[in-house]
Amino acid sequence: MKIDTATYRSSAQTLETCPPSKLPEFAFVGRSNVGKSSLINMLTGRKELAKTSSKPGRTRLINLFEINASWTLVDLPGYGFAKVSRAAQYEFNINVSAYLTQRESLKHVFALVDSRLEPQESDLAFIQWLHSHKIPFSVVFTKIDKSSESATQDLSHQFVEQLKSWEVEETRTFSCSAKTGRGRGAILQFIETHLPKKKKKTKGPKISTSWMMKPERLAPPEG
Ligand code: GTP
Ligand code: MG
Repeated sequence: MKIDTATYRSSAQTLETCPPSKLPEFAFVGRSNVGKSSLINMLTGRKELAKTSSKPGRTRLINLFEINASWTLVDLPGYGFAKVSRAAQYEFNINVSAYLTQRESLKHVFALVDSRLEPQESDLAFIQWLHSHKIPFSVVFTKIDKSSESATQDLSHQFVEQLKSWEVEETRTFSCSAKTGRGRGAILQFIETHLPKKKKKTKGPKISTSWMMKPERLAPPEG
C-alpha cells in the first residue's frame, strides 16, 4: 500500500476526549521503549510523525494519525517500566484499557514485543488480556536488526509457545525493524486487507440497452 498522506490528527488523554471517527483504527501497544512510535514512523515513511525517545515513557497520550484520509494509526502510551510515577503509570493503563475495550472504530491491535528478550510476563499477560476481551490482535517482534535471525526466530517461537500456556492458541506474528524497514510491506499489506473495500464510482445508473439490435438485424425482411 502506498502512503500518500500521513497527518497528525489529535492527542487525547482519555477515551472520552478522543474525537469520534468513522475511519478504521489500528493501534500500537506494548511496553515502554519497545518501539511503537518508531514503527509508526517507519510504516508511514515519515521520520518525525510520532515522537520517539531512548528514554522509556515518551508517549503519554493517545495519539491519532490519519493515513490516506481513509484509516488511522494510533500510538499509545507504553506499559511496564516507564520512568513515571506509579500513579501516572496506573492512569496510562486505565486510559489505554478503556480505549482498547470501548473504542468503536478500533479494528486491530498490534501488540509489540522486543525480539531480543526472553518472554516477559507483562507482555504475555497483556496479550492474554487482549485475547480474553476478544480484541483482534497480532504480535509484532521489534528491533530485529539488533540480533541474529536465528536468535530472533528462537525467541519468537518461545513467546508463541508460552502464549499457549496462557490459553492463547492462535497468534499471528510479524517481525520488524524500524531501523532497516524490514517487515514494513507485510504489516501494511495486512492493514490493507482489513480496510473496507472502496466502492467503485459509477456515473449514474447503468442503463440496459439489450433491446437495441444491430442495424442489420433491424432491417425489414426482403421480399
Ligand atoms: P514509549 O513511547 O516510551 O512507550 O516508547 P516507544 O515504544 O514508542 O519506543 P520508541 O519508538 O520511542 O523507541 C524507543 C527507542 O528504541 C528509541 O531510542 C528508538 O530509536 C529505538 N528503536 C525503536 N525501534 C527500533 C528498531 O527497530 N531498531 C533499533 N535498533 N532501535 C529501535
Ligand atoms: Mg512512543
